Amino acid sequence: MLWECVSILAFAGISVILILEVFRRPKNFPPGPSRIWSTMAQFKKNPLGALMLCKEKYGPVVGLKIGEFRVVILNDPADITKAFGNKSLNSRPPFLPAMIYVGGENHGTLTSSDEVWKAVRNCMVKSMGSLHTSPINGEASLTLSHDMEPLKELLERLSNPVSKEKLSLAELRSKLYIPIANHVWHVLTGEEIPEENKAGLQQQLVALQKALWQPISSPVWFLPTSAKRLPSTRTLLQEIKKAVDPLHAMVEEMVQETQKNGDDDSKTFSQAFLRGCRSYPCLRGYEAVHLKGAFFTLWHTAAETVGNLMAWTILWLSLYPEVQRKLAQELGQTDILDLMSLPYARAVIQEVLRLSSTAPFANFHWSVEDYKLGNGMVIPKGTVVIGNLFGVHHDPSVWPDVEVFRPERFLENEGGEENRAKVLLPFSAGLRTCPGQNFARNFILYALSQVLKDFQFSWDPQQARPTPEEIMDKSLVSIFRFVPDFKIVVRKREE
Ligand SMILES: *[C@@H]1O[C@H](CO)[C@@H](O)[C@H](O)[C@H]1NC(C)=O
Repeated sequence: MLWECVSILAFAGISVILILEVFRRPKNFPPGPSRIWSTMAQFKKNPLGALMLCKEKYGPVVGLKIGEFRVVILNDPADITKAFGNKSLNSRPPFLPAMIYVGGENHGTLTSSDEVWKAVRNCMVKSMGSLHTSPINGEASLTLSHDMEPLKELLERLSNPVSKEKLSLAELRSKLYIPIANHVWHVLTGEEIPEENKAGLQQQLVALQKALWQPISSPVWFLPTSAKRLPSTRTLLQEIKKAVDPLHAMVEEMVQETQKNGDDDSKTFSQAFLRGCRSYPCLRGYEAVHLKGAFFTLWHTAAETVGNLMAWTILWLSLYPEVQRKLAQELGQTDILDLMSLPYARAVIQEVLRLSSTAPFANFHWSVEDYKLGNGMVIPKGTVVIGNLFGVHHDPSVWPDVEVFRPERFLENEGGEENRAKVLLPFSAGLRTCPGQNFARNFILYALSQVLKDFQFSWDPQQARPTPEEIMDKSLVSIFRFVPDFKIVVRKREE
């Protein structure tokens, strides 16, 4: 009797929940898995695989719930480009780690929207000057070469024939922190980070890496602000804050220095930025806060993402020795400083960006008002919007031999860079595209030209080559997709 009651009650309860779920879907919300048959478990195990499944099952636009957030996934590159170019979707979700990362709401471009965002973005892009266009040469290349010494020493040691040790891709990534951080700092401020501070900075960057890049399924991302009070979430958030504080202090000091010295000559990024702020009434009184936010985001994101991309590049080159040989030859034949003018090298970078898809979700957008899609569906205000860039770059109907690393697909005589470029969106699309993308490409080619001169990288012949599934399983997927920590064999280049 009791059992019957319990099961009837349970049945009634489940039906009510189901009915509520059906009615909770906003009108014209795109189709997708309902919360009851939650994709959460799948998403936790393999977030990129879950996105691919959703795309297969529900088509170009998918609506669902992840944690407490309503989410729409855009799978079609044309939809992504159009949507992210519209100001209705031009904001970022209120993810707690992002707020702590940049210092709060309305700090720089990351946590601002509307008019303020537009003004800050304008100041930022105008003040970036050489950073987002010019190749690395002259004085900059000398200091960079100096900062890369520890990496070269490591490679030297590992390439010794008696050494049985291999190169960890995670270590490669962290060895690049200082060269990149110092280089960007130098370009932005005109000054270098003092030699004696570099070791401490290296440790802080590693600490932040550990605290910040929680898997994308971690509650810190998809929980509402009120969940700050949960003890486990609070601990994670406090760790991020502890790790980011010393880096903020460093930037803060630089900002104060700039304010003290005045911005009359606009020679550096910071001077130009402060000066630029004066043209926008909406920024008045908040110049220092925005400079701090914009500077920190540019500087830290560069150190994180460019090092990661370089490590991915070494992974692909070690798996494809023929590509490595051709690339080393092209880079070695020229002393042109504008490495981006080399066709094969350019194609290699494009293919690295496609296969690695290091910003697989287009860094998440947020709708500040309802947005109507071409097919009549609606993304309601307050929705997280994912541009499924991983899916765009791994669509077998667009890319033949989709999992094969083949830079030739980007060469003119192989069917056209023009066509392919349309669907390659590694730095996202629309209003919030990454302003540092040429910097990233230039830096990686520069770093490659430095290491491929003397060393070659190969997959350990004792180990089976990783399958695409293994590469997927072993890469940490957070806001960015980080290189799996495979171990690579390093040898001296003989040629
Ligand atoms: C942006 O989206 C809104 C809402 O869907 C629409 O009314 C508006 O026309 C779009 N703007 C542009 C420039 O396409």
